[in-house]
Amino acid sequence: MANIKTQELKKRAEKALAGGGPEKNRMQKERGKLLARERIDYLLDPGTFQELGLLVKTGAVEFGLKEKELAGDGVVTGLGKINGRPVAVFAQDFTVLGGTLGLAHASKISRLMDLALQSRFPVIGLCDSGGARIQEGVDSLGGYGEIFYRNVMASGLIPQISAILGPCAGGAVYSPALTDFIFMVEGISHMFITGPEVVQKATGEITDFDSLGGANIHGERSGVCHFVSPSEEDCFRTIRELLSYLPSHQGETPPYEESRDDPRRTSDKLDELASQDSRKPYDVRLVIREIADGGKFLEAAKRFAPNLVVGFGRMAGNVVGFVANNPSSQAGSLDILASQKGARFVRFCDAFNIPIVTLVDVPGYWPGITQEHGGVILHGSKLLFAYGEATVPKVTVILKKAYGGAYDVMGSKHVGADINFSWPTAEIAVMGAEGAVQILYSKEVSRAPNPEAYLTEKISQYREHFVNPWTSAQKGYIDEVIEPARTREKVVTALQFLLRGNPRKPLLPRKHTNVPL
Ligand code: HXC
Repeated sequence: MANIKTQELKKRAEKALAGGGPEKNRMQKERGKLLARERIDYLLDPGTFQELGLLVKTGAVEFGLKEKELAGDGVVTGLGKINGRPVAVFAQDFTVLGGTLGLAHASKISRLMDLALQSRFPVIGLCDSGGARIQEGVDSLGGYGEIFYRNVMASGLIPQISAILGPCAGGAVYSPALTDFIFMVEGISHMFITGPEVVQKATGEITDFDSLGGANIHGERSGVCHFVSPSEEDCFRTIRELLSYLPSHQGETPPYEESRDDPRRTSDKLDELASQDSRKPYDVRLVIREIADGGKFLEAAKRFAPNLVVGFGRMAGNVVGFVANNPSSQAGSLDILASQKGARFVRFCDAFNIPIVTLVDVPGYWPGITQEHGGVILHGSKLLFAYGEATVPKVTVILKKAYGGAYDVMGSKHVGADINFSWPTAEIAVMGAEGAVQILYSKEVSRAPNPEAYLTEKISQYREHFVNPWTSAQKGYIDEVIEPARTREKVVTALQFLLRGNPRKPLLPRKHTNVPL
């Protein structure tokens, strides 16, 4: 009897494991995509996958569903390990009715999320889906709603990661949007609310999959996607790398990793960089790599708002989030997109106990009608708000320029940074000398016997008085003016003190703040 039942189990499991069957699997491969279970194998530590709900099927019968065998209802769900730590993973199976989401499919994902939230570990969604399964009507909308609600409930408690690995339309893109990080793969990943055909019918605009919602558009233009990979294998490797920087939940500290890199290592490159003209552009990633353990840095949203660089690294083994103005793009100024990018990153770090190291070289906010009409007042304030709210340890280094409101925003002591350093080359002022003198002395200049000499003298006085770190250090806004070559040592030491216990008070109790969204 047991033998017969075991055989039946094998038969049922075999059928479910076959997904959409050989023909659909072949089509999936022809599109250059891996199968759902292959994806899970690439992602997880070998042999750790425990599938849940293999035999789940839809109870829906309308519009031809009765005749269809939908293996696992189009999604593979289960638990496994990454770098030895538990995760929950689901992979939508495009070979089964386009990976579309019906009630049973949604319930599998919701149950998995409940489990991950209850046991406190990350959820990774591998998405490849045509969206709401039309045949299941409001059940599929309801199913989506249940997932969205869980995304919100899990936000800030456990890391949530989405990889878009096919054409994801309609409901299939809202859930990823609610998660912390989105990955896409060039050539196979597409995300849109409505596809090119609907767009053309509704607006007359002619477009295609790639230019409407491909990996490069979302990685560079919309900012929806944080990591663009050239292949699925690279995507899974990067997800594993990202997780190596994250705690399993907000009650943990991020994974410490013993480093062989000398915490007191000095850098001649930084001395050299400091000695260059402050108006000469340079790539701030150079500074990050010079100070991070082993020069390792995992950058998020690399091509979106490149005037601000954000990402993860380690300093003497402790995970940190780097936020840095990048003078090689728009002179490192802040604007709407950079503020949004930075704010989201700072808030993520704060939620998951990741200290923030801010490297400042900012001439101010990017001026212009487009910025003003685009709401830079609202969006620019997001980054300030995020810094102000963050209670994780915050260490700031002003490298060269820190002008105007951007000085305050970029992790200044006034918005709650714990330790503030500056290179001796720093220029900390309301505005540049030329602009300031024009405003302060325009009348005097016009009346002066030698206006040019008068102007030069005033500019030099202003520079001497304001365009340096000394005034700020004298007032205690800068804790120490440091030798550029010793930046790593200084930041490491500061963090080691701060990480012994967060001395900052948590925010006063309230329902929640009203971040300017
Ligand atoms: C039911 C669907 C489906 C859907 C695709 N299929 N989308 N079935 N509901 N939404 C089925 C197809 O009929 C086909 O079935 C199989 O999935 C594969 O689809 P193909 O079209 O053959 O594949 P491909 O040419 O690669 O195109 C993939 C696609 C396209 C780009 C995803 O199918 C498409 O545009 N689908 C509609 C996407 C969409 O508009 N979704 C939004 C739904 S509304 P067979 O039997 O041949 O294998 C929504 C709102 C939710 O999601 C809001 C929540 C708040």
